[in-house]
Amino acid sequence: MSNPENTTLAPEPALTWSPDAPKGGKAVMNRVLKDGASVPLFFAQTLISSLRDVGYNNTTSAICEHVDNAIQAKATEVRVFFRQTGKKGDTVIDVAVYDNGLGMAPNVLKVATSFGGSMNFNNRAGIGRFGMGMKTAALSMSPVMDLYSWQEPRTYYSMTLDVDAIGRERTNTVELPDPTLMTELPDELADLFSKPLSFPASASEQSLMVEKGDDLDDRLGAHGTIIYMPCCDRLTHATARTLAEHAMKEMARVYRRPIEEGLKLYVNNRLVEAFDPTYAMAGARHARFLDTPEKTSRLMFAKKVSIPLREHGAETDDIVIRLYRLPIEQWSTLTRKTLRNDLQVFNGLTVTMLRNDREVFAGAMPDLTTRHTVTHWYRVQIDFPGELDEAFGVAANKQGVRLKGYVKEAIKKAIGDDITTINDEIKRYQGAQASARKGAQPSAAEARATDADLHQAKPLELTPDEEAQVEANLKTLAIALRRDGETDEEAFARVKASKYLIEFKHDEYWPFYHVEHRYGRVILTINTAHPFFEHLYEPLRKLGSTQASDDEDGGEAPAAEAQDGPLVALELLLLSLGRAQAQVTAQNEDARKILETLRREWSEAYRVQLTA
Ligand SMILES: Nc1ncnc2c1ncn2[C@@H]1O[C@H](COP(=O)(O)OP(=O)(O)OP(=O)(O)O)[C@@H](O)[C@H]1O
Ligand SMILES: [Mg+2]
Repeated sequence: MSNPENTTLAPEPALTWSPDAPKGGKAVMNRVLKDGASVPLFFAQTLISSLRDVGYNNTTSAICEHVDNAIQAKATEVRVFFRQTGKKGDTVIDVAVYDNGLGMAPNVLKVATSFGGSMNFNNRAGIGRFGMGMKTAALSMSPVMDLYSWQEPRTYYSMTLDVDAIGRERTNTVELPDPTLMTELPDELADLFSKPLSFPASASEQSLMVEKGDDLDDRLGAHGTIIYMPCCDRLTHATARTLAEHAMKEMARVYRRPIEEGLKLYVNNRLVEAFDPTYAMAGARHARFLDTPEKTSRLMFAKKVSIPLREHGAETDDIVIRLYRLPIEQWSTLTRKTLRNDLQVFNGLTVTMLRNDREVFAGAMPDLTTRHTVTHWYRVQIDFPGELDEAFGVAANKQGVRLKGYVKEAIKKAIGDDITTINDEIKRYQGAQASARKGAQPSAAEARATDADLHQAKPLELTPDEEAQVEANLKTLAIALRRDGETDEEAFARVKASKYLIEFKHDEYWPFYHVEHRYGRVILTINTAHPFFEHLYEPLRKLGSTQASDDEDGGEAPAAEAQDGPLVALELLLLSLGRAQAQVTAQNEDARKILETLRREWSEAYRVQLTA
């Protein structure tokens, strides 16, 4: 046991580095271990190699670092390029980001190339603050980062960061050389601006920066920057096509505010159109797909909430929480394809967060909103300032958030009740929809009222104008009244066959019903927000549906039961009211005004009685 030989023999420190580890790094390490050379705080050769792995979720989020920098440098035009060359199985992808921002003076360029080198260090007002983004993002894709920046025409300063070259350095002090001055860009870069890329396949889909006859240097102008990452060896997708499509889709959302404010952002020479997951921006992409009267969501409220920078701390800053309600009444009648592919309503982006106008999170937050499908129909948007980075858990790579517990609680406290209300409201609307709108058939009450019209003393009349164009008008009406799951043709057939149509709408400031007489149809709209709906309509509907299912169990005719249920009687009460109103007000403006007043006064008195 006590063999002195064993206790005095220290084991030889063994370097178990892989053969492809940086050679220079190994030389430095050996000098430290064997010759007792002083230990640096950073082993530059290995550190820079390891920094290549600082996590980005994907290539797009790494490229966003460059776009962030460009926006911070006041660029109005940014172009992202994925250039794929070579034959299948042996392709090379170069990535580049160009911007027409302020550019960097040679000394700034040099500082910016170093890790931690930032002109905005810990400045919370802008996007960048860590002094790492440009370098880590570039190296996460390629072992080489080439930088070009200029602040005078035809005066391009360039810097290169080459991980392999640094790995070969035999001393630990890796010094950056001075930037190189050139009067024109190298051809491989110049080509990016003047030649179509392999994707999009059709050159007509690409708006090149430099068209035939234009001069590249003139177009590059007095200031700007290019980050070039040649021969990328670490990209999330294998083809320029997938890379570009992913970048387009994500950046459309992440940079929706700058785009709305005029930023021209291109990916592979295609202009990126803003995508707003809250559907509040009138100029965003969703508006293009819609022919409904309501093209944007409705802002329910904007609440300012003050959040401590640290838990229990006295210092606070404000966030703004906005709740948007999608126009479910109109949009739920759109085709599934439009909702899913064009509008992307079902993408699960119920909550989005923006830090200094740049989105850092979009997704579901079930502990705030639940997982129910109602969450497709509203959006929560939270704006927070850089001062709250720690509270919101924003890391150096600015992807995603990790909210501290006390922040989550504060948000819940501020809007928890509103979320419960909107969840209930949309559930109720969907319930009403489901009962009243079985397929493309008229509801029981609609059918009863239509059949009964044969027995009415006075027929419903059309104005001569309406008579002339009833067919065309009914088509328009059918599109407006189309139900969930119905085609245009089915809606038209239904509207044509039925003289009575029941609709639903949710509006707190509206009477409990509304009726219109158009094209020989009585159109009744029931307001799901009025207490009438909760206290009378819903209970009767539920009663009807349990009766129907009891009957089914008992083997009796459920349809006949449902036809005579109390809900049908209630709907007929309103349809007959609508009919009478149509008769009385036809060509009588005074009567129309009186009945309009009656409807409002009655609704309000009824609301008070039901809720006071
Ligand atoms: N496109 C650009 N135009 C002008 N200056 C730039 C550009 N990109 C980077 N810079 C300069 O380089 C510096 C370093 O950029 P880098 O992204 O590495 O760090 P940062 O933006 O300061 O902080 P972060 O790590 O949060 O991104 C910036 O502070 C800025 O001064
Ligand atoms: Mg940055």
